[in-house]
This record gives sequence, structure tokens and C-alpha cells, in this order.
Amino acid sequence: MNNSLNSLPADSDRHLTPTVMVADDEAFTRQFFGMILQEEVYKYIELTTVAECRSYLENNTNPDLIVLDIRLPDGSGLDLLKWIRDRGINVPVIMITAYGSISDAVLAVKIGAFDFLTKPFEDTNKVRISIKRALEYGWLEKENRMLRARHGSRDVFEDMVGKSEKMQYVYELIKRAAAAPTNVLIEGESGTGKDLVARAIHSLSDRRGQAFVTVNCGALPEGLLESALFGYEKGAFTGALKTTQGFFEEAHNGTLFLDEIGDAPPSVQVKILRAVEDRVIYHVGSTKPVSLDVRLLFATNKELAKEVAAGRFRNDLFYRVNVVKITLPPLRERREDLPQLIDSFVEDYCRKSGIKKRIFTDEALSYLSSRSWPGNVRQLKNWVLRIMVLHPGKVVGLDDLHRYLDEEDSQEGESFYDTSYQQARQSFEKRYFERLLHRAGWDLNRAARQSKMHLASIYRKLNALGIKVK
Ligand SMILES: Nc1ncnc2c1ncn2[C@@H]1O[C@H](COP(=O)(O)OP(=O)(O)OP(=O)(O)O)[C@@H](O)[C@H]1O
Ligand SMILES: [Mg+2]
Repeated sequence: MNNSLNSLPADSDRHLTPTVMVADDEAFTRQFFGMILQEEVYKYIELTTVAECRSYLENNTNPDLIVLDIRLPDGSGLDLLKWIRDRGINVPVIMITAYGSISDAVLAVKIGAFDFLTKPFEDTNKVRISIKRALEYGWLEKENRMLRARHGSRDVFEDMVGKSEKMQYVYELIKRAAAAPTNVLIEGESGTGKDLVARAIHSLSDRRGQAFVTVNCGALPEGLLESALFGYEKGAFTGALKTTQGFFEEAHNGTLFLDEIGDAPPSVQVKILRAVEDRVIYHVGSTKPVSLDVRLLFATNKELAKEVAAGRFRNDLFYRVNVVKITLPPLRERREDLPQLIDSFVEDYCRKSGIKKRIFTDEALSYLSSRSWPGNVRQLKNWVLRIMVLHPGKVVGLDDLHRYLDEEDSQEGESFYDTSYQQARQSFEKRYFERLLHRAGWDLNRAARQSKMHLASIYRKLNALGIKVK
């Protein structure tokens, strides 16, 4: 075994000094990698046989990258690769195959190789790039695993991503709400994750084995909503052919999630109030009470207190609903979570479609963090999935973003034409100035020149639109 170390004094930070293990019995190949790796301050471990590799991996910290020849003197590199994966060693592996042996290369990727290189190496740059990408991929994977282990949020909170202070507070409230049988009101703009919170409360509560029933109170017309919630008796109205249970009964012993409660019409609000206070319901067309044990969760993207003040929501129901309130922060107030959210959407997509993980450049991530995201996490998620489908490359850069975002901007949501001219103009202006500033590197003088506006007018606009200059 011949370990040639580079000149860096310490290797405590493995991001600074990645360790690369290369196994090949040809001295020339090992020298070739030695040359490339030494250019980039990497720690280089040279091995020549399968036995040496196994012993190294069994007795040392895992390297950051493994490069394996497919034919080693005492066995096959492919078998070794399989052994590595079977032992749960998640390090990226690059296989070296002989020129023309495509089937070996395909097999290697199937077993879990990150990439393969063919000998003789004609293009040194290609080798360099492959090493860099593999290392980058490995770190991202590792970081993800660590984040998940540290926060455990994906398991406990059913796929909720984000470690910002605001989200930590939300997780805390979810845990508390889950432990008590009280009603919970979940407030937050559209797409902030209210659904996820409701599910998380149910799954963490002692009702987790029972039904979780969701009703969107804004989606059904008044008459239908009432019979959907409380059920009806045969003959209660035309078409009521047999007595039917409603969502409240379906949720008996479990949790009923009344989504968009702010949109429930007054007649239904009264009935919900009665159900909450007396723990009984009545089928439409019946005076016989049905006793129930249902835990109630409510969500709204309106501010319910304002709805009460405006006389659109019953005060007495509001006090019943608002026992514990969880307010979800809009995405623009927790921008630090954006990279992790994007990463988790990309990872999910790539894993499900069986392709290698894609990467956003730092520049692209910083631009995304500066956008306003009126549709919150839902908008971000849809957008990431769209770029995964449209963009063929492994790396997504700033230019790619502009290309796909432009496309998105012209396909405003359906709600676009429901807004007033005033709102539409303001939303356009906000987007325009954000984009302008970003392109000008947040240099206001440059932004003024590019937009052909006076500096003072730009200041006024930014103030009016609530855009903070970095
Ligand atoms: N913290 C989060 N981590 C990961 N994904 C999230 C998070 N929050 C929301 N999402 C995703 O964003 C999308 C929208 O979330 P959700 O449906 O819970 O929002 P909502 O607040 O209920 O929206 P609406 O008001 O429109 O009903 C979902 O696909 C959800 O999985
Ligand atoms: Mg929802």
C-alpha cells in the first residue's frame, strides 16, 4: 500500500481535503490519477487489489470518492462495487473500464456507480470533471442525510422541510398541539403547508391509527356542504335515496380537518358550532342526535380575526376554533429554507424517476431566494418539478432559470385575471424591480441606467413596493 499525501497540514475539514481512493493494478493509471489529484489538493490513497480495498474500507473512515478498475488482479471491480453498496457505504464510485466494453459500463451504473471512465484516458479534462461532479454529488448526499438525521423533520412531520427559526417554532407548536385534544386553527397563505401541518398533528396524536378526514369547506356549494358534513336521512331532499353518513361520522374517533373554514357559509357555521359545543350532530332531515368523538382541525388562508371583524365569520365559532393557533410563515419570510426545499424536491424527483441527482448552482439558488414567491412552497415545488422535466442538463444555472422563469411568468396562475388592475400592476412592478435589481447586482445606479429611471424614482418605487435593498 502506498499512501501519497498532499502538502495540506490537516484534513479535519473534508470539504477542504477530500480523500480519493483509487484502485488499479496498472502503475501508469495510478500515476495518472496521482497527477490529477495532486493538482487539486486531494488526499490520495492508491491501492492495487480487491483485498486491499476491502481491508482499507473495513479499517478506515470512508473516503469521499472511490475510483475502481473493473479488472483487478484478485477479482472483479464490479463485485467489489456490489460489496461496497451491500455494506451501505454511500460514497460515489467511478469505474474504469476498458475502451469499448460498454456492457460493463452499463452494468456498473446499474449496480450503483456514479460514472465510468474508459481507458486509455484521452481527455484529462473529462476525468477531472467526473471527479469533481462525483465529489459534489457525494457531499450533497451526505449533507442531506445529516440534515435529516439532525432534524428528523421528514419522518416526524411527514415531509415537512425547513430548519429556519420560524419553522422550528411551527414544529414545536405541532408537537404541543398533537399532545392535547384541543381544536387547532392553522393559518397561512396559500401553499405554505397547512395541509401538511394538519396531517402531522394527526399522525403525532394518539388518534394516528384512526381516520383522518379532510373537507374543503370552500369547494362545495352551501346545501351540499351541509349534507356532506353531517349526512342526511333518506328522503330529506330530492335525490336522497338512502340515509347516508357525513364526514363528521366518518371521522369518529379520529380527526376531521375542516379546510378553508373561512369560506363556510353562515348557515353551516352555526351547525359546526353546535357540533363543536355539544359533540353531537344531526343528519339533514332528522332531529335525532348522533354523539361523536371527533378531534377538529381547521385551516384558512384568510385572517379569521379580520373575517370576524368584517362580520363574515361568527364570533362564537371563532373562539371555539381558535384554541391553539399555528401560523405558517410565507416562504419569503424564511428564505434561508429555500436551498433545502429545492434540494428535497430535486432529490424526490430524481429518485422517483431513477436519474442522477441534478444540482442548482449557487448563483441560481441565490436568485431564487430573492424572488417573492406569492404561491409559496407550492409554487416553488411546481416550478422545480417543471424545470426537472424541461431542463436536460445535470446542472441548473442562472441562465436556465431565466429561460424557464420567463416561461412561467407568462403563464400566470388562473387567478391572475381575477385580481384587480391595481393588484396586477403592483405584482408586475414588484417582479420587474426584483429582476432588474438582481440583474444589476443590486447596484442601484446600474439599475437606474438599465431602467432609464431616475435614482430617486427607483428609491420611491422600492419603498412603495416593500423591496429591501441588500
Ligand atoms: N415545509 C414544507 N416542506 C416540503 N414541502 C412542503 C412544505 N410546505 C408545503 N409543501 C408542499 O407544498 C405544497 C402545498 O402545501 P399545502 O397543500 O400543505 O399548502 P396549503 O397551505 O394547504 O395551501 P392552500 O391554502 O392552497 O390549501 C404541497 O405539495 C406540499 O407538499
Ligand atoms: Mg390546503
